Amino acid sequence: MALRTTAQGKEAGRAPLPLTSRRDTWWIRPLLTVIVLGSFVLYATWRGLENQFFEAGPYLSPFYSPLLPIDLSIGGWKVSPAIYIIAFPLLFRLTCYYYRLAYYRSFFWDPPACAVQELAQRKRYTGEREFPFILQNLHRFAFYLAVVFIFILGYDAIRAFFFDGRFGIGLGSLIFIVNVVLLILYTFSCHSFRHLIGGRINCYSCSNASKTRYGIWKRISLLNARHGLFAWCSLFSVALTDLYVRLVASGAVRDVRFF
Ligand code: FES
Repeated sequence: MALRTTAQGKEAGRAPLPLTSRRDTWWIRPLLTVIVLGSFVLYATWRGLENQFFEAGPYLSPFYSPLLPIDLSIGGWKVSPAIYIIAFPLLFRLTCYYYRLAYYRSFFWDPPACAVQELAQRKRYTGEREFPFILQNLHRFAFYLAVVFIFILGYDAIRAFFFDGRFGIGLGSLIFIVNVVLLILYTFSCHSFRHLIGGRINCYSCSNASKTRYGIWKRISLLNARHGLFAWCSLFSVALTDLYVRLVASGAVRDVRFF
């Protein structure tokens, strides 16, 4: 028997049917996604607008890196440089295939899980072929920008080991290193990068170059299988790195120095 939708149930003058007959806790995942992703967006927006406490000794918040040495005011209104900087990593994450899955399910409820009905019955489904979702196709270009940021944040992580020109190790130095490693794992496990390396080729064994590409593609595929994990871990690490810088810069905590 065909599954009747809620809308159909209403049309037929009957009580609406439940969204799903699943009895497991399928709703936990979308709920957690809303809480975690929503919290991150709120935190990043607040920090981006705050425009202070982003530098403490050799530590520079990832939301404010690179430091922009120009006045970015618009019409006398002082604009936080983070607004310009965050836009690029944000584009990368918003268009990421993994995050798309996560927020289409949790925020748009479209559908929220397998075998769970969508809330709204659409008349026409255009997928990502029309505005605004066609912009998701910018992801491959956002990947190139993300690679630039890996170099910038990698430089910041090295700088985090030099206190007044002398080598040292603080808790912040270690946090910066962990952050950049997680960002590298997230960026280079990207589906677009995997396609860049192993896609658009018909024969992997026909030349030494294609064999090499195949070898790299296999390794990237191993990373790619954990892309979702890296997406969450790097999201946490960016927020925690910024939070640590803010706490030290505002004097709320003192940086722990090991060396
Ligand atoms: Fe997630 Fe490219 S698919 S960053």
